[in-house]
Amino acid sequence: MNGCRICGGRVEEFLDLGPQPLPDAFLLPEELGEEYFHRLAVGRCTGCTVVQLTGEVPRERVFHHDYAYRSAQSGAMREHFARTALGFADTELAGRADPFFVEIGCNDGTLLRNVAAAGIRHLGFEPSGGAAALARSQGARVREDFFEAATAAAVREEEGPAHVVYSSDTISQIPYTASLLAGVDALLDPDGVFVFDDPYLRDMIEKTSFDQICNERFYLFSVRSVTAMAERYGFELVDAVRLPGYGGGMRYVLARAGARTPSPEVARLRAEEEELRLTEPETLRAFAASVLRIRDELTALLRRLRAEGRSVAGYGATAKSATVTNLCGIGPELVPYVCDTTPGKQGRLSPGVHIPVVPPETFTADYPEYALLFAWSHAEEIIAKEQGFRAAGGKWIVYVPEVRVLES
Ligand code: SAH
Ligand code: TMP
Ligand code: ZN
Repeated sequence: MNGCRICGGRVEEFLDLGPQPLPDAFLLPEELGEEYFHRLAVGRCTGCTVVQLTGEVPRERVFHHDYAYRSAQSGAMREHFARTALGFADTELAGRADPFFVEIGCNDGTLLRNVAAAGIRHLGFEPSGGAAALARSQGARVREDFFEAATAAAVREEEGPAHVVYSSDTISQIPYTASLLAGVDALLDPDGVFVFDDPYLRDMIEKTSFDQICNERFYLFSVRSVTAMAERYGFELVDAVRLPGYGGGMRYVLARAGARTPSPEVARLRAEEEELRLTEPETLRAFAASVLRIRDELTALLRRLRAEGRSVAGYGATAKSATVTNLCGIGPELVPYVCDTTPGKQGRLSPGVHIPVVPPETFTADYPEYALLFAWSHAEEIIAKEQGFRAAGGKWIVYVPEVRVLES
């Protein structure tokens, strides 16, 4: 096992999710048989306490031209990004002569198009060519590259310092932390901020949302571990804000060490983590035991429903669903199809277990009796949109925070 990617400390494994595919590697039927699997296990650093995978997948295998995820698929996230962009325009970027905004992992430009529309100088880093092309078509400026020490320094050289470096659901996917933060150090204005939004360890533990763990996401951050990360690389965590999206997320605001007065929220949230013993080994071991219980309950429920001849479909071919289906062995015999709005996922097979992905119209044209809500982090939006399903007698099945059939 490798040492911790933040501090070099010893990483103690607490959960093994078995061999898992890449969660965004949806297959064409003719590609069957060529799949990449990697053992998915998570551990805790005995030094800085950050929760991280015990192994790494080479980044080019994940974030290549056809990387399937598209930010624009969720209405709630589109609003979150518009609010975030306008928020920066009104605060951090306001009053500067020529503000410069950089986004790491801009994907299809769902956030950056708001920055572009406000006429703010900006640049998105996006290694996936397919996503980058969409972002450009939205009016965003994109560098088709991984953000790291060298590429960030090149942008600093060519375009000057950035006042805000923002990233959503991407910093937790970057294991090469030293290079990442050297890049931020090279690019950020002395008085700039590095802001990132990612799933929060506390929400994952409290909801037993183990499907936040996959071969794409390397870290599950806490206020404690991000504080350690910031300090190690010359930064300081100056604010932390819990977010409803991301299946329960946290916004971390970093500035150069000593440049800003930290908000009292940082200490308050950190104290709550201590009180909950969030990053203590026994908490993580209890979480692991709950994961295995949920696996058994979900598998038993689906087997029973199918044995009774009930029809079941999956809703949302999320990255998260790869972890659940592969851990539980849920294939087309238990869930014959999964519907998803992402064009690049439709007509393909889900990673590892090969459930066909179909457009939502297949679902609405002939409702199943039960729908397994893989996209649980968008539950409110989806259940509101699919009222016809319940009206037709359909029932949602969820597994976060417990396996339950929602009675309408
Ligand atoms: N920010 C978007 C997309 C998150 S998915 C959202 O929140 O919806 C993560 C994105 O980061 C992918 O588009 C991936 O291609 C990109 N990415 C991965 N590693 C990166 C790196 N080192 N630098 C920049 N982008 C990266
Ligand atoms: P996420 O959990 O990584 O945000 O992925 C959400 C997935 O769910 C994505 O593939 C799009 C899909 N989705 C739908 O199919 N319908 C919806 O209404 C929403 C919000 C998402
Ligand atoms: Zn560590």
